Amino acid sequence: MSESLDIVRTKADLRARVRYWRDQGLNVAFVPTMGALHEGHLTLVRAGLEMADRVVASVFVNPTQFGPNEDFSRYPRQEELDAALLAGAGCHLLYAPSVEEMYPPGFATTISVGGVSEGLCGDVRPGHFDGVATVVTKLLLQAQPHVALFGEKDWQQLAVIRRLVRDLDVPVDVAGVPTVREADGLAKSSRNAYLSASERAIAPVLYQVLNHIAEGLRQGGVAADLCAQGRARILEAGFISVDYLEARGADGLEPLERLDRPARILVAARLAGARLIDNLAVEPGHA
Ligand code: PAJ
Repeated sequence: MSESLDIVRTKADLRARVRYWRDQGLNVAFVPTMGALHEGHLTLVRAGLEMADRVVASVFVNPTQFGPNEDFSRYPRQEELDAALLAGAGCHLLYAPSVEEMYPPGFATTISVGGVSEGLCGDVRPGHFDGVATVVTKLLLQAQPHVALFGEKDWQQLAVIRRLVRDLDVPVDVAGVPTVREADGLAKSSRNAYLSASERAIAPVLYQVLNHIAEGLRQGGVAADLCAQGRARILEAGFISVDYLEARGADGLEPLERLDRPARILVAARLAGARLIDNLAVEPGHA
């Protein structure tokens, strides 16, 4: 376990460090984050240590993936604590670039992924996945890792990243890591910090509803009906609104009516000042 963690802030320094490792024949894993790290992020780091000799994490709160009325300015920033958590998890290097380093004057290119970025968060957060796809492409080209790790918690984001890596021939393996949850099922998220104690007590209903829909689908239920019931239950529990609650094909994210292929149930809902998302796998043939 590494006790000290080096921090680099420029793409030139990052490249030099990774090139040095690669020249020694070492494999490098990369974990992009926006910081405010929790056990979910640290699980990605630990999974990276299993897959590679060196792990690089990035912390960059990417302005281009936030809408004008979203939480970019209040998104939690705690670099010192994040660096200590990364060091404790065994991470070897932190890349923490400035906004100017990522987007120098004149920056004018956007990566826009079709198909899987449409619907769900793509509808509710216009431009969000363009921002994600562009920054992740940049980060992958800057770091040039062998493998990059992303959480299943952001299932649609993972699908967008897999698509862009395939479509643009980015020479990296993409690894998905299962969602890390609190004891009551709530998916760990930096945005859980926005919840008061009473809101926090309501939040696990999302996971309960996902499980209930999974069970209903396994028993032959119709997705739209189950999701309508689930939506009502989320609102009754005290959420302000449900952005979406849908069952989709697990890989292509196409809408589905019944459990006739591997599926994913995905939800986004607003609880006071926090927008929470979650998703759950459901496989046919396990009734
Ligand atoms: P962020 O929300 O900080 O998440 C960084 C990575 O941690 C993502 O791959 C996310 O899916 C994963 N993650 C978050 N919570 C998790 C949990 N409870 N269990 C498992 N993995 C979890 O996602 C982003 O940042 C950004 O969009 C980014 C990809 C860094 C581009 O800016």
